[in-house]
Amino acid sequence: MAKDVIIALDFPNRERTMDFLSLFGGERPYVKIGMELFYAAGPEIVREISGRGHKVFLDLKLCDIPNTVRGAMRSLRGLGVDIINLHAFGSSAMMSAALEGLTEPDGSRHTKLIAVTILTSTGEETLHRELLIDAPLSEAVMRYAENARAAGLDGVVCSPLESAEVHTRCGADFLTVTPGVRFAGGEQGDQVRVTTPAKARALGSDYIVVGRPITGAADPAAAWRLCRSEFLGGEM
Ligand code: C5P
Repeated sequence: MAKDVIIALDFPNRERTMDFLSLFGGERPYVKIGMELFYAAGPEIVREISGRGHKVFLDLKLCDIPNTVRGAMRSLRGLGVDIINLHAFGSSAMMSAALEGLTEPDGSRHTKLIAVTILTSTGEETLHRELLIDAPLSEAVMRYAENARAAGLDGVVCSPLESAEVHTRCGADFLTVTPGVRFAGGEQGDQVRVTTPAKARALGSDYIVVGRPITGAADPAAAWRLCRSEFLGGEM
C-alpha cells in the first residue's frame, strides 16, 4: 500500500544537497542517500539530514562475505536511518548476518533492511550470456525476493511492474520500494521501463524512489507535492 515518495538525493556534495533541501522550506521529504553522496560527504551528511527531521533510506547496496556485512551493518546502525539495503545476490547467509549487525544488544532493531533483487540495468541477455544465470529474469527476481523474505528482511527494491507479484509471493506486508517512476509525458532519462506515480500506486508499490523528475524540475517542491498527491491519492 502506498506509503510515501522518497526523493533520490543524487548530488555530488553537501553544498548542492543542502541547497536543494532548502527549497522545501519547513517541509521534510523522505530522502534517499546513495553511494555518490555518501562516499563524497561521509556518515556526517546522514546525521545532518536526519537531524533536520528527514527520514532517510541509505542506499549503499552492500554485498560481501557475511562477516564483513555483519560488521558494516553494525557500524551503520548508529546512524539510525529508516531503511538500508544490500544485494540479495550476496546469499541468505549474508542477509541473515546483516540483520544480526543491525540488531541492538537488547534485541530491538530500528532500521528496516531491504534487498536489491536484480538491478534494473541488467537485462535478460546479460543475465544468461554474461552471468550464466539460466532462469528467466522475472523468475530470478521473484526467487531473490523469496530468499530475502525467508532470511527475515523487510522488503525489496524492484520495478513497480513487479510489486504485485512480489506481494503475492512474499505477503502484503513485505515492502516494495520502486524506482523507475516518471510523470506522464515527462523525460524517461536512462530508465527503460517506467510507470507514473498513479500507476505505481495501482500496482501496489509501498514506496516510490524518484530522482530527476523532482531534482531536475523548475520547482522541485511543487513537483514533490504533485508526485505525493498522485501516489498517495486520498491517503495524504
Ligand atoms: O532520477 P531517477 O528517478 O531515475 O532516480 C532513480 C533512483 O533510484 C536513482 O538514485 C537510482 O540509483 C535508483 N535505482 C534505480 N534502479 C534500481 C535501483 C536504484 O533507478 N534498480
